[in-house]
Amino acid sequence: MSDARAGALLADRSSGPIEVLAPQMALIVTIDGPAGTGKSSVAHALAKRLGLRVLDTGAMYRAAAAIVIDHDLPRDDVEQILARVRDADLHFDWKADPPVILAWLKPMNERIREADVNELVSLVAAMSPLREHMVRKQRLIGKQYPHLVSEGRDQGSVVFPDADVKFFLTADPRERARRRVDQLREQGVIVDPEEMETKLIARDQLDSTRADGPLVKPEGAIELDTTNMTFDEVVDRLEAHVRAVVGDRTAS
Ligand code: DC
Repeated sequence: MSDARAGALLADRSSGPIEVLAPQMALIVTIDGPAGTGKSSVAHALAKRLGLRVLDTGAMYRAAAAIVIDHDLPRDDVEQILARVRDADLHFDWKADPPVILAWLKPMNERIREADVNELVSLVAAMSPLREHMVRKQRLIGKQYPHLVSEGRDQGSVVFPDADVKFFLTADPRERARRRVDQLREQGVIVDPEEMETKLIARDQLDSTRADGPLVKPEGAIELDTTNMTFDEVVDRLEAHVRAVVGDRTAS
């Protein structure tokens, strides 16, 4: 489908009800990119428009980091960390909106956004045995629910290399820091933008240089620099691409 036709589809829908995709149509969309590019909010909005579920894989690594802190696990004992994370049986309650991540059946959504988890998560996410465990879980979720927008760092490159549509979102580090600072301000937390930019760059560096599942643009991914785009413009663009792919598939 041409961009013009995809655009027309969007224009049509803006005046009518949102048209979700047929539930029987298996579709995996991946969104990868560095911190602060808006992946998570974009993934939720896109999933809602298309009638898909969201898999927030960052939440799984964050939950693992929270377990390390809350159970006072030695940070260099990967085997012990993996054993405890396995025991927690991390999974999502999809009935909640947004979905809730559970560890030992306990909701973790608030805990995993706290500052100490932010600090530790990149280190935990670099542990290869833990990544293998998470990748296996994510693929299993993809098999059980093949109607996903899956969001993270390695979704299009490692977890779902055969995904139907892959996106790679980027944005200037200053803009990413500004967005994070605004988001935190809404939650009543005041952070210095320069300090945030330094932290984001450090996190990108850790995420991009680890041995397993580093942050890379996946092969075949559509790259979108969101620096000068509004949230709605980003979601519109992604939705148009997905609908174009689905339209081409059903037409052929
Ligand atoms: O997207 P986020 O900020 O919630 O991610 C938290 C951390 O987990 C971040 O350091 C990147 C890492 N992560 C990862 O390594 N692989 C993923 N698929 C998702 C997140």
